[in-house]
Amino acid sequence: MFRTALVVGASSGIGEQIVLKLAARGCKVAAIARRQELLDALVEKSSGQVIAHTHDVTDYDAAPALFDELVSELGGLDVIIYCAGVMPSVDEGEYNFAKDRAMLEVNLVGAVCWLDLAAAHMESKRAGTIVGISSVAGDRGRRGAPVYTASKAGMSAYLEALRNRCHRYGVQVVTVKPGPVRTPMTEGMELPFMIDATEAADGVLALAQSGTGEGYVPKIWWPIMSIIKAVPSFIFRKTNV
Ligand SMILES: NC(=O)c1ccc[n+]([C@@H]2O[C@H](COP(=O)([O-])OP(=O)(O)OC[C@H]3O[C@@H](n4cnc5c(N)ncnc54)[C@H](OP(=O)(O)O)[C@@H]3O)[C@@H](O)[C@H]2O)c1
Repeated sequence: MFRTALVVGASSGIGEQIVLKLAARGCKVAAIARRQELLDALVEKSSGQVIAHTHDVTDYDAAPALFDELVSELGGLDVIIYCAGVMPSVDEGEYNFAKDRAMLEVNLVGAVCWLDLAAAHMESKRAGTIVGISSVAGDRGRRGAPVYTASKAGMSAYLEALRNRCHRYGVQVVTVKPGPVRTPMTEGMELPFMIDATEAADGVLALAQSGTGEGYVPKIWWPIMSIIKAVPSFIFRKTNV
């Protein structure tokens, strides 16, 4: 049972639901994101269990001091969950460096910044759980979203390496690969096996609690992705995903 948690990217979607569920279980949660009004609403809904700070994860220089401040306010850190992410729509034939850079900076570089801080802290305490929200999208290079898939493939590889580095110090690192989830990120989309953010949050927290190295949410994506990962590249490139 986690007593203290830090959720990065907590103002909407999966992150918001994770904060609410942790708070309902009596966990003290630090919630960070950019939109103050959404964080304020989260604090109001959580009967004193949530402290909120606005922060842009691309403000890398501000992260170390904020991390220390939050751990001190929480009185420790049992688990960190990195949920921040962006997925702007990218048209066929569009090569837009501003969008691509934003995806890499928020989805991957921000994760490295915050999870490195957590890893150093937890290694020194010989305890803790680090959770990163990757995606099924990172399992193959998809023509519809080259840089989003690259950011998630990078996230999965980084988390695997962090897990292999940290396990000998008593720190669990968990990679979560959700399939499609109904959140503001996927507004207007109806996709196969789509689930609500509350179900996704339950899946993330179950994996976090079990300390399982890597898991799909929902579990149906494990057999599906096992098949998709085995499709030879010359065939996969003919698909439209
Ligand atoms: N929805 C899906 O189908 C799906 C599937 C697989 C994986 N995922 C992953 O799950 C994670 C959560 O996504 P979601 O679907 O819940 O989307 P969402 O509702 O759009 O939430 C994204 C969160 O990221 C935060 N964020 C974005 N840019 C930020 C920045 N520069 N600094 C700080 N926080 C920032 C947002 O807060 P502010 O805007 O307030 O800063 C928000 O809290 C993402 O990593 C996403 O890639 C989603």
